Amino acid sequence: MNINKKYEKYTWKQEYETGVMFIDHFHENFMNLTNTLIDVVYNKECAEKIIMVFHRLANYIEDYLVKEEMYLQKIGFQGFMEHKAEHKAFIKEIISFQEAYEKHENICLNLLIYVDNYFKNHILSGDKKAVKMEIS
Ligand SMILES: [Fe+2]
Repeated sequence: MNINKKYEKYTWKQEYETGVMFIDHFHENFMNLTNTLIDVVYNKECAEKIIMVFHRLANYIEDYLVKEEMYLQKIGFQGFMEHKAEHKAFIKEIISFQEAYEKHENICLNLLIYVDNYFKNHILSGDKKAVKMEIS
């Protein structure tokens, strides 16, 4: 695991956009959430702020993922089932982070590694390909 990796905060760029407004809106929110988590880890504020981070992750899951799935189904994205499986894996992983936190495990850095990776590989890459209907 790349524990020593230095995390850089993101700035929203035009190249991140899918061109679908509600998707870009939630994607930018997720980027902001990733930035917050970077601050939490580097400022050692895990104990005070992890609940707020979980709350924002829950919002992303509850308010957005089903909407994105409905959209991808509507446009007939061929990789839909695999894409939906990635969402499911994300939800499962966040729940297990939450359970580990409830057992008083120090999960902040590992959560950052996971969330940062999801932002880069799912949101900036997978979602964009899906909306543009590119088969990877
Ligand atoms: Fe997605």
